[in-house]
Amino acid sequence: MANISMATSKHPLPFSMGKGFEIPSIPLVLIKIIQTVDEDTSSARELEALILHDPALSARILRLANSAFYSFRANVKTISHAIALLGLNLVTSLAIGINIFDSFTKGAKSEAALINKLWTHSCGVAVLVKEIWTQRGHAGKDGEFAFLCGLLHDLGKVVLFKTYPSHYSSIFAIAKSETDPAISSYEEENYGVDHAAIGEMLAKQWGFPAELASVIRKHHDPLALEMPMVSAVMLADFVAKGLKIGYDGDDGLYEDLTALQPKLEVSDEEFEQLKEFAARERQNIESFFKISS
Ligand SMILES: [Fe+2]
Ligand SMILES: [Fe+2]
Repeated sequence: MANISMATSKHPLPFSMGKGFEIPSIPLVLIKIIQTVDEDTSSARELEALILHDPALSARILRLANSAFYSFRANVKTISHAIALLGLNLVTSLAIGINIFDSFTKGAKSEAALINKLWTHSCGVAVLVKEIWTQRGHAGKDGEFAFLCGLLHDLGKVVLFKTYPSHYSSIFAIAKSETDPAISSYEEENYGVDHAAIGEMLAKQWGFPAELASVIRKHHDPLALEMPMVSAVMLADFVAKGLKIGYDGDDGLYEDLTALQPKLEVSDEEFEQLKEFAARERQNIESFFKISS
């Protein structure tokens, strides 16, 4: 096992569900945006009004709409135009992702570089889950929901960074080899709970759609592979790690994919195509991250 001597004393447990744990607060505007995810009736106008309340978020959405990542010919100057081009659901997902990472990283200094890597990883997994989902025949609103699942699968890690900045940074930064346990084991050992459980708890507390909360909870659980979205997120997670698109604290685990592949029911062909797609998209994903951060 890698050296985790700094991580041997168990930390007081704010996450012991229900025992005085304070749920980190998120901006009201974000809660309102999340609530629109579940509503079939949510309108572009409603989302536009919410985004316009946040000038920094508005600026990023515009930069993204004008970026090479989407290569629209038009010069996008308004949020309503961006929503029309990018789609209601993608803009919703981006607003949620950007806002969450923002509110948790405010004031973070030494751990900022690690959190940025996690954000790149999350953007990479988001793009890949959406691709898997689309390739498997689901498009449109479903594809955008897949994107959101990828973007937020490691939500619990952002919370751990916020709660234990330097301690969690050292656990996250440990160079793990294939034989080391996953970061979830380090989290359980030190905080009594792992990022998947923390993420689910927050997702529920904040009123995320129930399916999103359960994907966050189960994204490392091999027994949950019969849930198609869980298996898509797991596959995307492994491919992103393998190509080192960002970093999520679990570098050594790529070798496990060979064992996981049959369980994921991914054909060699699909797997190869996905790796090629990820390699092609890597630059876009990385610049996407820079634009949205
Ligand atoms: Fe994870
Ligand atoms: Fe991950």
